Parts: sequence; structure tokens; C-alpha cells
Amino acid sequence: MTRPIEITFSDPDFGDLTRLTGTLVATVGEGGELSPAGKALDEACAGAISRLAASAGFKCKLGDVEKLLFPMGLTADAVLVVGLGSEPLDAAAARRIGGAIGARTAGEETTFLADGLGDPALAAEAAFGAVLRRYAFVDHKTGDQDDVGGALRVRCPSPDEAAKAAQPLMALADGVFFTRDLVNEPANVLTTEAFAARLATMSGLGLEISVLDEDALEAMGMRALLAVGRGSASGSKVVTMKWMGGGDEAPLALIGKGVTFDTGGVSLKPAAGMEEMTTDMGGAGVVAGVMRALAKRKAKANVVGIVGLVENMPDGMAQRPGDVVRSMKGDTIEVINTDAEGRLVLADVMWHAQEAYKPAAMIDLATLTGAIVVALGAENAGYFASDDDLAAAFGEAAKTAGENAWRMPLSDAYDKLLKSRVADVKNVGGRPAGAITAAQFLKRFVKEGVPWIHVDIAGVTSTKENKPLSPKGATGWGVRTLDQLIRDKFEG
Ligand code: BES
Ligand code: MN
Ligand code: ZN
Repeated sequence: MTRPIEITFSDPDFGDLTRLTGTLVATVGEGGELSPAGKALDEACAGAISRLAASAGFKCKLGDVEKLLFPMGLTADAVLVVGLGSEPLDAAAARRIGGAIGARTAGEETTFLADGLGDPALAAEAAFGAVLRRYAFVDHKTGDQDDVGGALRVRCPSPDEAAKAAQPLMALADGVFFTRDLVNEPANVLTTEAFAARLATMSGLGLEISVLDEDALEAMGMRALLAVGRGSASGSKVVTMKWMGGGDEAPLALIGKGVTFDTGGVSLKPAAGMEEMTTDMGGAGVVAGVMRALAKRKAKANVVGIVGLVENMPDGMAQRPGDVVRSMKGDTIEVINTDAEGRLVLADVMWHAQEAYKPAAMIDLATLTGAIVVALGAENAGYFASDDDLAAAFGEAAKTAGENAWRMPLSDAYDKLLKSRVADVKNVGGRPAGAITAAQFLKRFVKEGVPWIHVDIAGVTSTKENKPLSPKGATGWGVRTLDQLIRDKFEG
């Protein structure tokens, strides 16, 4: 497991600045303003920081960074100068500043002179940003890793307050890292069994974990889910993670698509880019990360996370195009395309969640369609909601968390695209509105009166370029939004 870097908070101390090692970080406002500690550091290195701040090339905008190497007068190897911009800082801005620091200090012991941020809570947010950006997945690298580790020491007024504010943020970072590790893991390592085993380790955190195997799923009638996994040597599983930190109110149900690898099945995908389908368990990864964060910060909420873990492989036992399967709900589904497998998995897991837990609301997350990538690219997840209040709360939570999400429409007018000649519904609706017909398919499996959101995260689960708070690879998109939504709406 990838561990977040170690963070400590202490009072600003001006006496030892010339003797510190590693990288020192100072902030500058857009008018070239230095913090008191920054000023002392500037004096110690003969004005190098203020000269940089006054130079034409450095704009001091929010998150601008420049590194001064081997500054005269200091034992430190580098001074990193970070712009604060001109607006008053909020949590999102502080995280971004932290992200900029994290991006330039990989593997380095870092002392961040954060007295310029003003508020200790903002120092904690900046540390959170640095931790998220410093994530590195190196489990399968055998050489020396000199860009890994390196503690972050934050110096700010009221360090105890900052440390207290950082606690729930570090719980959240732990959840995000758990998700990223799961998503980055190749499919030969993260089989359905290994996935379930990794989730089971979280019972040590006070989560109640239960694992249903194929015999149990068969007995419960989850035939749509089982049909997807028939071609795989790894057994299909449904794992439930329960966190009952609230009172006796009905839980929020979080449902995740956990396709450990999606070849498309007999409707085989083309070879180019197929390796990206190791991330097709991203929805399940997010659900697991949220549950971990809730347990780590001992959230006062009732939340049940349920993930369907299957592998979609072509094989003599695999389902065929044209097969008809009967879902747990009882609706029959004509499988036109075995590559539209995620909705088959979710249909049964969602139905099971509602039968077993009578949730107050249900949110599913899935790398469900290429069509959502066509619509929104990598900048926004698409969400579909049956309930305007829940939709508004979700949108607001995403904004607070700094994760972009765009609401997409649901409408029964699309259902005609899913009409089957032989069964109640077919699993694909053709190319037009592909993300919406997928959502309309899922909606059949939502009981009347259950507020529900479907989040299609196919475009945001992993990134090909470094992002402010995430290096290349798995992003953990959604863990922060859902944690925020739970704080806002489900925590007493
Ligand atoms: N896992 C894919 C969707 C996907 C595409 C995720 C790109 C991440 C990046 C999903 O199972 C799938 O194959 N969907 C098909 C559905 C189609 C056959 C109706 C698609 O989007 O092409
Ligand atoms: Mn597929
Ligand atoms: Zn898939």
C-alpha cells in the first residue's frame, strides 16, 4: 500500500533557517509580499527570493513555482518559491498551492514556511494538497526510488490547530491513496479474489466486511452479474463494507462497478488501448476509498458500500451476444453486446442494495461508457440524478472538493432505444446518447422513491497528464466529493 508522506506542524522559527537541509518553501503574494519567515529566509540568502519575486518572468500567481538551487548562505539544497496570487485564499486555493509544492518536491525533505497563508486550517489544506500530489505508485518498480518519501514539515502559527485540522484530511488522503492503488494495480495482480481480500483487511478499521461468492450470488439470483464473469478464471464476488457511525437512520448506499479487467468479452474490444481496462474497477475503487476515509475519520454517518467484482473475459464458458439473462429484480435482459457489461453488474448490485438495506439514497459510480468520454473528456465526470435536491447537493459537494462534475439528463423518452424483441430490455441502445441510455438502463433497477445518482467516471478515473492534485495514472476522482457530500447531508 502506498503510504501518504509524513506531515508535521510546528511554530515558525527564524533562528535555524540557515542550518536547515533539504528544500525550503517560501510564499510570495502577487505584489511580492513575503511572510515574516519568508523575509528572514530572504535576508539569509542575500535577497534571492525578493529578486525572483520582482523579476519579469515570475508572476507570483496562485500556484506559480520556481526553484532556486543551492542558495548562497543556506545549507538547504533549494528554496522553492510559491505564488499566492492576489485573491484571499480559500481551502481549494490552499490545496492547489500544496499541490504545486508537492509536484516540485518529490522525494525531498521539505520545510514549508506557511506563515504567509494566515490561517492554520489553510496550512492543513495546503499540506493535504501536497500529500495528494506526492502520491507515487512504485509497487512494481524494482530499482531505487529517489522520488519517493521525504517528509513535509509545515511551520505556521497555532501548529496544534493546524495538526487538528489536518487529521480528517489525512484520513481522506488515505482513502484516496487506497483507491489509486486499487485502480493502478494490474489485473493479473488485482483479481476479483485479491480485490475482495484487500477490502477484507479494512475490517481492522471497524468496517463490517462481508464477501458473497458465486454460490451465494447464484442463490440470491444475481444472474446478470454472474453472466459477466462466466468467462473468467477468477470467481465473481460482491463485497459489502458497512460503516454505521450514525444513529438508527437508513444508510446511504454507495455502489461500485468493479470489473477488474474488461476485454469486452466475446464482443471483444480492439487491442489498441485495451490495457486501460485495468481501470474498469474504478467505481468499486472509489467506493472502497470512501469507506476507508469514513472509518479513519470515524464519520457520524451510516453508509453501506457494495461493489460487484467480476472479470469480463472471452472463453468457452463466457456469455454470448444474444443471450437472455434474468436479473435479480426479475426483468429479463437481452445481451446484444457483451462489452456493455457494467450495467449488468450494477443492475443486480443496486437491486440487492435496496432489498437488503432500504437505503435513504443510493449513488452508483462506474467507468460505464466511452460515450461520456466523448461528451465530457477528462475534465468532468457526468452524473445523472432522479432527485433534484440530491443532485444539487452532489454538485455543490463536487465544487467544494475541487472535483468537476456535470449533470446529464435522464428521460423516459430514451427508453425506446432499449426495447428488445425477445426480452424486457436490451443492454445497449446504439451510438446516439450512449451515456444516457446506459443511465436509463440502470434506472429500471431503482425502486420508486429512492433518490439515486449514477456517476459515469469513465473519463476521470485515470489521467494521462499530471493534474494539480494528482500525478499521472489513477486519480481517485470521487472520493473527496462523496466524503464532502456525506459531511454536508448525511452526517448529524
Ligand atoms: N468499461 C467500458 C467503458 C469505458 C470506455 C471505460 C472507455 C473507460 C474508458 C464499458 O464496459 C464499455 O465497454 N462500454 C461500451 C458500451 C457499448 C458497447 C454500448 C462503450 O462505451 O463502448
Ligand atoms: Mn465493456
Ligand atoms: Zn466496462
